[in-house]
Amino acid sequence: MTPNTQPPRIKSLHVQNYETLKDITLEEITPLTVLLGPNGSGKSTVFDVFAFLAECFSDGLRKAWDRRGRFRELRSRDQDGSIVIELQYRERPGTPLITYHLAIVE
Ligand SMILES: Nc1ncnc2c1ncn2[C@@H]1O[C@H](COP(=O)(O)OP(=O)(O)OP(=O)(O)O)[C@@H](O)[C@H]1O
Ligand SMILES: [Mg+2]
Repeated sequence: MTPNTQPPRIKSLHVQNYETLKDITLEEITPLTVLLGPNGSGKSTVFDVFAFLAECFSDGLRKAWDRRGRFRELRSRDQDGSIVIELQYRERPGTPLITYHLAIVE
């Protein structure tokens, strides 16, 4: 049997109230995805969402959370809802779509 070299693949990302990302959904993310937008529109913040999740798993949510200044810094200004990150991914092509949902409430 040949080893499976296909990595897990993220299909969509939905974010609410994470810094400048008040409510965004990226559907049908492809292996090469390009983010285009003006300065300050949130391109780097999209990558920080992935860094935040990675840090939650490697260092724990508390540390990732504290590092980013908690609700005071992290929640979109003028919003008071929860911070939501939802992604859909497949472990391998052809396997079922898995939904990962994280909501942080005060
Ligand atoms: N809590 C927050 N609520 C709302 N906006 C925030 C919050 N924290 C940071 N921002 C804003 O997010 C913006 C930074 O977004 P980001 O760095 O992702 O943009 P970018 O698209 O990567 O820009 P550039 O092209 O300059 O790299 C800044 O305008 C900053 O004021
Ligand atoms: Mg940037």
